[in-house]
Amino acid sequence: MKVALTGASGFLGPRLVQGLLEAGHTVHVLVRNVEQALERLPKGVTGAAFRAGEPLPPESLAGAQAVIHLAGEPINQRWNHDAKRRIRDSRVQGTRALVDAMQGAGTVQRFVSTSAVGYYGGTHGAEVLTEENSPGKDFLAGVCQEWEAEALRAREAGIRTAVARMGVILHPEGGALHTMLPPFRMGAGGRIGSGKQYVSWIHREDAVAALRFLLEHPELEGPFNVTSPEPLSNAEFAHTLGTVLGRPSVMHIPGFVVKAAMGEMAMVALEGQRVLPKRLTESGFTFHFPQLEPALRQLLA
Ligand SMILES: NC(=O)c1ccc[n+]([C@@H]2O[C@H](COP(=O)([O-])OP(=O)(O)OC[C@H]3O[C@@H](n4cnc5c(N)ncnc54)[C@H](OP(=O)(O)O)[C@@H]3O)[C@@H](O)[C@H]2O)c1
Repeated sequence: MKVALTGASGFLGPRLVQGLLEAGHTVHVLVRNVEQALERLPKGVTGAAFRAGEPLPPESLAGAQAVIHLAGEPINQRWNHDAKRRIRDSRVQGTRALVDAMQGAGTVQRFVSTSAVGYYGGTHGAEVLTEENSPGKDFLAGVCQEWEAEALRAREAGIRTAVARMGVILHPEGGALHTMLPPFRMGAGGRIGSGKQYVSWIHREDAVAALRFLLEHPELEGPFNVTSPEPLSNAEFAHTLGTVLGRPSVMHIPGFVVKAAMGEMAMVALEGQRVLPKRLTESGFTFHFPQLEPALRQLLA
């Protein structure tokens, strides 16, 4: 199948490109800098320009039968007014432009768009959340709702659409684990805030496999939590990471310190969601790394 992919030069994108090629798909990337992206991706991958906020000509999809959408401004920055606007607009306007192009192209039958477990909001404590739960009310929950609503518009053109609510994707090359590793390696890691907030994590290989699974099962429509089946509290996560690294992890970063350093964005670290991948599991998806300790041992070997 010819698959068009946005966000191909980010953290998850290059590994997903590789996974799609290994599965025999043809890959066409939609990126801000085509030349730079193609230089770093395997031979045979094609590309066209895609900028959130600008219309995307339907020809840019190059006759793709499926689209996977990863692009969006990173959230790990101080959320001042401009950053919030970029985080929201890159997703809402970007998804709108992409869906308009898909509707115009007439070749696309399958759409897999990412979202995040932030959809559920950060006030649930240890409550177990599945795809049936309602959205939260904070900034990220609002962004996820608008982002998903734009993606689901693709169904108006008969395009079968799945929304992947991603958990914290783990790999030492990027994302949360990359940020956590230096202090934990120095023995200065530990729980953040109360440590009771849940971390709904997923090994990067399982994240790639889940996106491919959704791509290749067009009968699966609507929201899917893409998280491991065993989320842990922040304190348990810190303890497990310390154990795997063979380093102490008894430090405690108080919530007010995180808030002073990160502002409103601190909610991502201080609040959390205990999310289960109910629909993925019921659909027959198998996780290679359902538990954190073996996942971290493999990632950090
Ligand atoms: N990583 C995680 O733990 C995690 C957790 C939950 C949800 N997600 C979501 O999953 C998706 C993929 O994650 P990721 O970690 O691979 O993302 P990423 O590396 O932060 O970014 C993916 C791509 O977004 C594009 N992008 C960045 N800023 C942009 C802007 N201002 N306007 C338009 N495009 C912009 C870039 O595309 P170009 O190739 O065009 O430069 C980049 O390659 C993202 O939407 C993310 O929000 C990730």
